[in-house]
Amino acid sequence: MAPPSTLTALAEEKTLEASFVRDKDERPKVAYNQFSNEIPVVSLAGIDDVDGKRAEICQKIVEACEDWGTFQVVDHGVDTRLVSNMTRLAREFFALPAEDKRRFDMSGGKKGGFMVSSHLQGEGVVQNWREIVTYFSYPVKKRDYSRWPNKPEGWIEVTEEYSEKLMGLACKLLEVLSEAMGLEKEALTKACVDMDQKVVVNFYPKCPQLDLTLGLKRHTDLGTITLLLQDQVGGLQATRDNGNTWITVQPVEGAFIVNLGDHGHNADHQAVVNSECSRLSIATFQNPAPDATVYPLKIREGEKPILEEPITFAEMYRRKLSKDLELAKLKKLAK
Ligand code: SIN
Ligand code: FE2
Repeated sequence: MAPPSTLTALAEEKTLEASFVRDKDERPKVAYNQFSNEIPVVSLAGIDDVDGKRAEICQKIVEACEDWGTFQVVDHGVDTRLVSNMTRLAREFFALPAEDKRRFDMSGGKKGGFMVSSHLQGEGVVQNWREIVTYFSYPVKKRDYSRWPNKPEGWIEVTEEYSEKLMGLACKLLEVLSEAMGLEKEALTKACVDMDQKVVVNFYPKCPQLDLTLGLKRHTDLGTITLLLQDQVGGLQATRDNGNTWITVQPVEGAFIVNLGDHGHNADHQAVVNSECSRLSIATFQNPAPDATVYPLKIREGEKPILEEPITFAEMYRRKLSKDLELAKLKKLAK
């Protein structure tokens, strides 16, 4: 079933619409506000000081990547005013009347714009309880401004600046990871060829039956490195104990959560919702160019590489989507 065109009316209902109801095994196990502070928080203050704190900071990042595949960064140098403008405008966008949001409707395969649920649609797929607005920001030639909302005022300018600053931060973190693997500083950015960046702004409205659904289903991020900004509401969950225990990540004011995608530790995560207030998060994905080659690499002893042969990133993406669709179909058949 196709997702509804907005969640505004459904959020006012007493019961959850059937297309959002998940199987028992997928439903939330831990509350949205039962926070854990286990995920490391790393301050980047002094990271450029090669004779000073850099080595210590890099060591913390490497440990977090090995243990969790995810960590939070503070003192990252992205201006707090820019971040608060970005979240304010994003909230204003989702508060627009449905017809304004639907002008950027991206159902039917359009690249960028507004949609409920996304990104997987097909037989057996359960909808995510979220609205999104998404746009491709790098390489610059991929920017299609006809798919970027021109309301609220200032959105395009602020999102452009936000994209640029987050690309800078992502490259800085990739330098640390390259060095940690004994490679030259630019190795990982170069391997991405002409690095892609896609921004997905997630809005999770209040939900009538929070125990039955998810804002965003369990997944790993597909690409190289994701920078996630979340508000203070809470709802991001990560796993430990080989994926068997869920924890709700403690929101840290002004921090970015760094997630390694499938090219690294591929950290499992999901977003849960709540019935008290809406939640906003902004995920900025840095990925290789579609025709860049991805090689199988065994990072640790006993670990199975996620690929059997080198393939392009576009092919890796296609395979992941079709596997997810196949699983959704099988689940439906098994009911
Ligand atoms: C994501 O995984 O892209 C978003 C998760 C969140 O909203 O916390
Ligand atoms: Fe994600």
